[in-house]
Amino acid sequence: MKHDSKHAQPQNLKTPCLVVGIFDHNRGDTNLDMLDQASEGALRRILKKGDFQGRNGETLMLYGLPGVAATRVLLLGLGKQRELTARSYGEAIGKAIRQLQEANVARAAIALPDEGDSYQMTRQAVIAAEAAVYRFDECKSDAKGPRRPLTQLTFATHDRRHLRRMQKACSHGSAIANGSRLAKDLGNLPGNICTPTYLAEQARKLARGKRRLKVTILEEKDMEKLGMGALLSVSRGSSQPAKLIVMEYKGGKPGSKPVALVGKGLTFDAGGISIKPAQAMDEMKYDMCGGASVFGAIAACLELELPINVVGVVPSSENLPDGNANKPGDIVTSMSGQTIEVLNTDAEGRLILCDALTYTERFEPAAVVDIATLTGACIIALGHHASGLMANDDRLAEELNHAGEAANDRVWRLPLWDDYQKQLDSNFADMANIGGRPAGTITAACFLSRFAKKFKWAHLDIAGTAWVSGNDKGATGRPVPLLTQFLMKRARVVD
Ligand code: BES
Ligand code: MN
Ligand code: ZN
Repeated sequence: MKHDSKHAQPQNLKTPCLVVGIFDHNRGDTNLDMLDQASEGALRRILKKGDFQGRNGETLMLYGLPGVAATRVLLLGLGKQRELTARSYGEAIGKAIRQLQEANVARAAIALPDEGDSYQMTRQAVIAAEAAVYRFDECKSDAKGPRRPLTQLTFATHDRRHLRRMQKACSHGSAIANGSRLAKDLGNLPGNICTPTYLAEQARKLARGKRRLKVTILEEKDMEKLGMGALLSVSRGSSQPAKLIVMEYKGGKPGSKPVALVGKGLTFDAGGISIKPAQAMDEMKYDMCGGASVFGAIAACLELELPINVVGVVPSSENLPDGNANKPGDIVTSMSGQTIEVLNTDAEGRLILCDALTYTERFEPAAVVDIATLTGACIIALGHHASGLMANDDRLAEELNHAGEAANDRVWRLPLWDDYQKQLDSNFADMANIGGRPAGTITAACFLSRFAKKFKWAHLDIAGTAWVSGNDKGATGRPVPLLTQFLMKRARVVD
């Protein structure tokens, strides 16, 4: 979908469909007044009939409104005027877009409300619109899309002063949406297609023809040389070879320290010998969504040409039961030299991430953020709304928290106090890979913190936010918006 912005009065927009917002109790803004005047009061007369209330997401399609250039006018409820946020606006726009698709409208214009921050609103609307048209039908033999898919969305303002901000919002929004789409596509692919080898191939594809992106794939023999005994112990139970995918985005000054993003790329997690129950095990194809979000964020950096250096590191493996698989009680030696007693083979994410974190030291990163569908406990703690945030640096945590708020992709911080560390004590190795039932999300982060001593580090547990279950099962693309916002801010392209 193409997004652009335009200075025009709403009644003059020649478009198959004009979307105009109305607040609760049918309170309009200047856009509505202009349309009403142009139609000589026809709009208000329609509203007086009482079919429409202006509740958030409510829609009413009008045809042939006199004096108005648009073929159709879609009234869109925005809820209470005082409660309007970029987030609530995006939700309403999502509903409108679905309506447009049902009407087989290929192009539409949106009259941006006078109320609110025109940059934030436009950006969130672009992202919501792209999410509303997203479908994953790569694996269906008779993929039926809408007859005429929506191909262009124009944001219109009658106030010229908003135009530049809206243009920026369109390009930022579309980069974030495209990055999220890549993350969703990779997440939604099944484990038999999206293997570690497939992910490595996608990284190479992302770099094709792009001067700013360098991709290196480490094979198992390279990992052996580096002593990545923890990562390799997980992949030993699988016939698919593990890959360590390294993506170096070079948009900043040469020599300026990169931000490192380390994403869990477990392409299928059956639990290993500590096998998971059958119920919903298919969803463990999403166990590579942290890695996918790194792909998405790097893709957004490329699209925005951000002036910053970023390194993406994605350790990728399967976790399956097998004669060669990790067994409970096995002791492995990580690349850092620390030994780990594998008391539960299903706590494999931390085993592949710890070696990836140690590997990341060589880039002398300014900050490291790892992203992982790491613990079911995080879903119990925070549900499906916020990702878990833990960090060894308060300023980095604050920065990520702020980015999550600004990008409508929120996180909530949990403590990483030393008190929790002793839950990882082992009788036989330097540490165990599990810390018992209490605070499972925190003890997983405690484990990782032992491999993150050499840099400023934050950990995002996205177990509850990376995908939705049920009838609308599918990847969400989170936390690509947060990561992109964080990088945009570091690159000083937003304030
Ligand atoms: N990938 C899972 C975590 C997960 C489970 C994410 C369900 C989303 C939904 C991870 O590898 C795992 O299995 N973690 C275990 C850790 C436990 C053995 C300490 C868990 O959460 O049960
Ligand atoms: Mn697991
Ligand atoms: Zn896992």
